[in-house]
Amino acid sequence: MTKIAVVNQKGGVGKTTTVVNLSTALALENLRVLVVDGDAQANASSGFGINRRNGKNLYHLLIGKANIDEVLVRVESANLDLIPSSPDLIGVDTELRGKPNWELALKNLLDNISSNYEFIFIDAPPSLGTLTVLILSAAEYILIPVQAEYYALEGVAQLLETVHYVRRTINPKLKLMGFLITMYDKRTKLSEQVEEQIRGIFKEMVFSNVIPRSVRLAEAPSYGIPGVLFDPLSVGAIAYRNLAKEILEKFVKREANV
Ligand SMILES: Nc1ncnc2c1ncn2[C@@H]1O[C@H](COP(=O)(O)OP(=O)(O)OP(=O)(O)O)[C@@H](O)[C@H]1O
Ligand SMILES: [Mg+2]
Repeated sequence: MTKIAVVNQKGGVGKTTTVVNLSTALALENLRVLVVDGDAQANASSGFGINRRNGKNLYHLLIGKANIDEVLVRVESANLDLIPSSPDLIGVDTELRGKPNWELALKNLLDNISSNYEFIFIDAPPSLGTLTVLILSAAEYILIPVQAEYYALEGVAQLLETVHYVRRTINPKLKLMGFLITMYDKRTKLSEQVEEQIRGIFKEMVFSNVIPRSVRLAEAPSYGIPGVLFDPLSVGAIAYRNLAKEILEKFVKREANV
């Protein structure tokens, strides 16, 4: 089982789009996948057409007011499972923080069900608060989407500091899976320059596949359907399918060989 947190405290860089499409792309490769919506905005949930604003969701699980069977949703259309979120999730900050071992609340919960899955994706909020610490404590890998724009790497140093802190204190096994360049516009020199800069700094830690700017990926959430299913032949869908294959090649086969 591979547990991947998709994190970047910078907002709107493509975290949720990556979680929704990459998880669905792996489900299309016949892998058993779980998505955890770890953001109170609940964009990953709505991206799959799921609304749990009035039902039990990740918040109730984390504070011990629901069990997993009450919260886990089967998303038939995408052939995967989802732990949905809702704006309630903002409450974990006051409910959990300070309680003994609060950092492990999500990890403990996922440990109980992780053997059912080959991949678990966790969508993170655009902040480095309580939820992000819970998410980094539960993850095995982090995937960092960076938008092909000026200031793409703004905040990355601070994010990596938080990763190091979690590694030192709670989760020594946390590894960086890679940086993913998103919303790449091949018509602009800027995208090219930003890619060159990111690859120059992070080298082989940057995924070979780049996600292009794709109107179809942006339209899909309003239909509650992942972009890779909404328009499978769009450039964005193809890029996420290829990224799924790259991850399988690099991270799953290599582990199987050792
Ligand atoms: N490759 C892409 N091409 C075009 N639009 C995209 C692409 N990726 C994401 N978007 C759009 O950009 C916006 C931000 O994307 P997304 O919600 O995935 O970012 P995020 O990092 O999860 O944001 P937040 O920090 O608020 O959680 C959304 O409207 C989304 O549809
Ligand atoms: Mg998001």
